[in-house]
Amino acid sequence: MDNSTLSFCKKLPKLELHAHLNGSISDKTLLELSQTLDNKGTNYDNIKQFIMGCKDRSLEECFKMFSLIHSMTVSASIIRKVTKDVIEDFAGDGVVYLELRSTPRQVEGSMTKNEYMDAIIESIRESKELYPIIVKLIVSIDRKSGVTEAEENLELAIQAKEANPDIVLGIDFSGNPAIGEIDDFIPVLQCAQKSGFSLAIHCAEVPCELETKKILQLNPERLGHATCIHPDAGGSDELWKTLIESKIPVELCLTSNVKTSTVKDYRNHHFDHLYKIGHPIVLGTDDKGVFSTSLSDEYCIAAKTFELDNDQLWQLSYDSINYAFASEYEKEKLQKILKDWKQNITGNSKID
Ligand code: IMP
Ligand code: ZN
Repeated sequence: MDNSTLSFCKKLPKLELHAHLNGSISDKTLLELSQTLDNKGTNYDNIKQFIMGCKDRSLEECFKMFSLIHSMTVSASIIRKVTKDVIEDFAGDGVVYLELRSTPRQVEGSMTKNEYMDAIIESIRESKELYPIIVKLIVSIDRKSGVTEAEENLELAIQAKEANPDIVLGIDFSGNPAIGEIDDFIPVLQCAQKSGFSLAIHCAEVPCELETKKILQLNPERLGHATCIHPDAGGSDELWKTLIESKIPVELCLTSNVKTSTVKDYRNHHFDHLYKIGHPIVLGTDDKGVFSTSLSDEYCIAAKTFELDNDQLWQLSYDSINYAFASEYEKEKLQKILKDWKQNITGNSKID
């Protein structure tokens, strides 16, 4: 990879809008955790194998990896630590605004869902003093866990938002796309909309025209992946037209899609189609730990694959401010950060 592009991408102030907490934990943090847990007699060997092993896994294998990671993030103090470390990683990578998403989880005898949420929110609050990054929380609904859990998580999200309206902003719908019927979850997602949440919905990771249509009808604020919508990727002309006309911003995670083989290779990524027609898009890492990537790497891969110059990379980051769930005040602050940064490196007198 061209060193000057990578160095530009690292320095560029960026917004990360698609990052799952447990998938974003670095190898370093996981190793530290596994050593602590090993001292208590837990399955250190499994975890070590995972961390050292090959990082190119199928989508199904990734979901097994999440279970392994979940077997380590089992107490409120661990959740506080991993949240802090993940925020520090993103800040160190030049991310100035981060929307972290996570599924409330309880561990029998060790942590309730409320404690899980509080731990993340506390860490986010503490990070304000420590790093130059704005961090928000999106509460995830895991389609694998069924509707009762979904309703419970929405209720938790409503309470957390009431207590922390500056931090808890959205609802994510994610999990193994091979499991669960969208029809079952639509009422919960509509209820989330009525409760004032912005929606970020994982969509069309695998081909399923009917489900994709129903998600688009919900008119969420953002879509995750939107992989199998273009006719080249198992979708149809009609579905593609519906997406484009909807103008719903799409969170694109290049490495995640290529490593899980939902996209053949970078060149065939639907970034190309969407970027060319000016559809709103934002680059994200999805699971930077599981896929060994960073947001700077993703910008650099986009630059190299689709021949984007530095101005286009800056614009990509600048435009993504529009798709954040942040307040207008925070968006203006982010716009200023990006403009000042550009002015500094180009020496231009004023950027409009
Ligand atoms: P957590 O919600 O912080 O525990 O992050 C891990 C969870 O995010 C996984 O168990 C999945 O439910 C979800 N997730 C992470 N990556 C993906 C993806 O690519 N597609 C769908 N769901 C995902
Ligand atoms: Zn995701």
